[in-house]
Amino acid sequence: ERTSVAILGAGPAGLLLSHLLHLNGIASILVEARDREYVQARVRAGVVEHGAADILRQAGVGERMDREGLPHGGIELRFDGAGHRIAMSELTGRHITVYGQQEIVHDLAERRIADGGDVRFACGPAAIHDVDSGEPSVTYTVDGAEHRIVADFVVACDGAHGAGRPAMGETLKTFEKVYPFAWLGILAHAAPRVDELVYANHERGFALYSMRSHEVTRLYLQVPSTDRLEDWSDERIWDELAVRFSLDGEPWEPTRGEIFERSLAPLRSYVGEPMQRGRLFLAGDAAHTVPPTGAKGMNLAIRDVDLLARALTEQLRHGAEEGLRTYTDRALRAVWRAEYFSWWMTTMLHRFDGDSGFDRRVQTAQLRSVVGSEAHATALSENYVG
Ligand code: FAD
Ligand code: DHB
Repeated sequence: ERTSVAILGAGPAGLLLSHLLHLNGIASILVEARDREYVQARVRAGVVEHGAADILRQAGVGERMDREGLPHGGIELRFDGAGHRIAMSELTGRHITVYGQQEIVHDLAERRIADGGDVRFACGPAAIHDVDSGEPSVTYTVDGAEHRIVADFVVACDGAHGAGRPAMGETLKTFEKVYPFAWLGILAHAAPRVDELVYANHERGFALYSMRSHEVTRLYLQVPSTDRLEDWSDERIWDELAVRFSLDGEPWEPTRGEIFERSLAPLRSYVGEPMQRGRLFLAGDAAHTVPPTGAKGMNLAIRDVDLLARALTEQLRHGAEEGLRTYTDRALRAVWRAEYFSWWMTTMLHRFDGDSGFDRRVQTAQLRSVVGSEAHATALSENYVG
């Protein structure tokens, strides 16, 4: 088989890329390892920044997000037993939208299928070949039969553990930081007690109050990376949250409800440079990882493919190579800014085991500066809303 662009991975990056290419009249085949139900049920990000929401709207896939998503104009930083609102909308004129990543994936998959797009789920892990030649290809095996797709270009949108990273070979220079903790995340059938997200720094560790709707609460706890889900009973999770969200020295309880989803996510920062080798391009988590504290991962994935869709279109329609040649440099500028912001938020809000009294006091001083200085709060807001 032959196509213009072969895409690996049906996360937000891969699905949006195949949709954007379709809008530009470019054919693609998308190959996803897992089945559609699994991909659409995978619970992850929840914050869509201003620019990413605009990209989705302009691509005609923002309608349900605008109807059902929750526009938020601020966040709360809670520390030393007090809450402080960061008025992001007043400071930047923009807002974020709280809308689940799996809803975006659902909307994109629906739209690709309605448009007759070639999106193949349940293919098992695909492999990438001959990216340094003029005829790169992708192979996958279903029911013992091997399928090969030859393409002009291959784009790996297959996340941190896909075929894209290894296919870069020795040309890839990697930059990495691993944090000694993870996030335990839950979804519960409970009306959120707050209207805006609460990022809490408590001496027992970080906690985050988020939501998916007026009926569903999303909560996170910083836990040591050695913890397992079995270590955390429902009771222990709720009790710990109440302590970490304390106000004036008193526990402050999120509204409780049935926990219907739970997961552990390790925190790490990773960038691979460049984001291209020959006719292979990397986008989204395949190229970079950010710790979730800044809510940037999905947003970066959307930005990457927005750049890449334009560059591939210019090349395939007009033979203009400039866009593809400069893709790595342009994408990496936004990537490193998000890496910086995510690292900054992570270090400001979490507890680090080895921290001295000096480190703790500097962290508190930093938080006081952010909530006390309009300039500092504006810098946080600009980065957060994107
Ligand atoms: P993925 O969504 O990982 O998709 C990759 C796809 O490729 C998968 O479907 C996978 O099955 C498939 N695949 C893998 N290998 C192969 C192969 N060999 N062949 C074929 N298919 C393959 N980001 C935000 O912006 N805001 C947030 O609020 C936020 N919160 C987060 C909270 C948590 C707990 C976590 C874990 C992440 C969060 N993120 C957040 C990050 C965000 O979820 C990711 O950055 C995002 O999923 C990246 O999208 P992607 O399309 O690049 O990759
Ligand atoms: C959510 C996740 C994040 O990483 C974050 O910073 C804010 C919200 C969420 O899943 O709702």
